[in-house]
Amino acid sequence: MTFKPAPWPRKLRSQHWYGGTSRDAIYHRGWLKNQGHPDDLFDGRPVIGILNTWSELTPCNGHLDELARKVKAGIWEAGGFPLEVPVFSASENTFRPTAMMFRNLAAMSVEEAMRGQPIDGAVLMVGCDKTTPSLMMAAASTDIPSIVVSGGPMLNGWWRGKAVGAGTHLWQFSEAVKAGEMTQDDFLEAEAAVTRSAGSCNTMGTASTMASMAEALGMALSGNAAIPAVDARRRVMAQLTGRRIVQMVKDDLKPSDVLTRQAFENAIRTNAAIGGSTNAVIHLLAIAGRVGIDLTLDDWDRCGRDIPMIVNLQPSGHYLMEEFFYAGGLPVVLKRLGEAGLLHKDALTVSGGAIWDDVKDVRNWNEEVIRPADKALTRSGGIVVLKGNLAPRGAVLKPSAASPHLMKHRGRAVVFEDIDDYKARIEDEALDIDETCVMVLKNCGPKGYPGMSEVGNMGLPPKVLRKGITDMVRISDARMSGTAYGTVVLHTSPEAAAGGPLAVVRTGDVIEIDVEARRLHLDISDTELAERLAAWTPTHEMAGSGYAWLHQQHVEGADTGADLDFLRGKRGRAVGRDSH
Ligand code: FES
Repeated sequence: MTFKPAPWPRKLRSQHWYGGTSRDAIYHRGWLKNQGHPDDLFDGRPVIGILNTWSELTPCNGHLDELARKVKAGIWEAGGFPLEVPVFSASENTFRPTAMMFRNLAAMSVEEAMRGQPIDGAVLMVGCDKTTPSLMMAAASTDIPSIVVSGGPMLNGWWRGKAVGAGTHLWQFSEAVKAGEMTQDDFLEAEAAVTRSAGSCNTMGTASTMASMAEALGMALSGNAAIPAVDARRRVMAQLTGRRIVQMVKDDLKPSDVLTRQAFENAIRTNAAIGGSTNAVIHLLAIAGRVGIDLTLDDWDRCGRDIPMIVNLQPSGHYLMEEFFYAGGLPVVLKRLGEAGLLHKDALTVSGGAIWDDVKDVRNWNEEVIRPADKALTRSGGIVVLKGNLAPRGAVLKPSAASPHLMKHRGRAVVFEDIDDYKARIEDEALDIDETCVMVLKNCGPKGYPGMSEVGNMGLPPKVLRKGITDMVRISDARMSGTAYGTVVLHTSPEAAAGGPLAVVRTGDVIEIDVEARRLHLDISDTELAERLAAWTPTHEMAGSGYAWLHQQHVEGADTGADLDFLRGKRGRAVGRDSH
């Protein structure tokens, strides 16, 4: 930790708009004064943009308008000038074809909203899955002082006396209906019980994982990840975040000061300990690409290997985010990692101090929820990176969500050319498939879907489910919801639509998976694989115009974060020329 605060006072970037007596300054101040702002707010104090992903169509962030008022209060208290800015909000549960296609669009638009406007610092108000990485990517590219505050998870769902988790139980109930173990009417009744309060998914799904990643990276105040959305302490967190950003601007504490290689390694290890979502792999690779850190898939395997998964939360465990918060939340996990020598203790955070200082004195209030290492849920919770002739640039698997008996498996491939082919045939009783087969899904990667949908955890065929079988090996170039589970190989790279070997797998081929050996192998000769690849032609649809076209032309592979190639890197915060 080598951060040295900048001298204060000094001229801030907002003064390029609001400072002085020129015609342009009068123009900029005058127009903003139509909102009723007195003269002294333009005196050189930090102007803070509250970048808010509130939207009624992003229900997980539907309370962020109210939460923003507390952020604003904190900024006023600290002597800043808060201005709330609505930004692109991609809801995981609503956006089609998939919210992931819009993560980069959101990042691009937020980056320009930050750079093109008179703000000295930003509060990133996030919650639903893609909103967290997209705003962090934007902040990394502008390098304007920024701090994350999450909306927080929903309260536990309850249905017929049992706690039910958002997402995870939806998948379970859906499979139970297909297996004839649950009625459709019961499924409908459970609908509103699963998601009963404001907030993001209450499992350790992607939203909770990314909130945890923001905290482990040092981009949010300590304790931010787990406070429930409707708990009064979430509003306190928002207010404290507002206070903090003002000092960060004065100190010029930037994303590039916080987002170091050490911070990313801390986050990867944290993801292993919490049993976090595979989506974190793609998002952290993309954020690292923005800030110029050379993070790779191999770093995920190396840093996450042999880190016990100690957080007992769905989908890999039992409890929900509410219990995680009551147990002490992420600071307890970070303390555990630190005690085990697995945390870069001096990594800088938005607090201005070392991450260890924030967590070293916390206590664990429930050792069933945050387990001691000798009672870990799995010995190694890290994301596994598989390689082989089927995934030359890698594929990922979450062992804590997988079945131990399938970690080494050889089976006959049953291939679905795309998600429509899968949907058309999976319930066909005549489909030649049993539980020993390997389900393969193509054309669901960043280019192919397009956008890389969360369809990798394909539901099993009903005839297999009726035998009481709940898991099979599944391989695709898709992603999987962080709330999902199963022996699911994801992000296979290069993707099928880019001509990766996945594109030429045929039904009846034999596939081997060996998690311990990190191997994913298509059992055909090198010659035959080369011949098939030479004869391959793309089958996925290409958009002719619009953002989908831009995305398909420029999106990179999942193995490097699926960013748009022209958005990688830091472009800085230089103030452009005036328009008048
Ligand atoms: Fe928004 Fe899960 S769908 S957090």
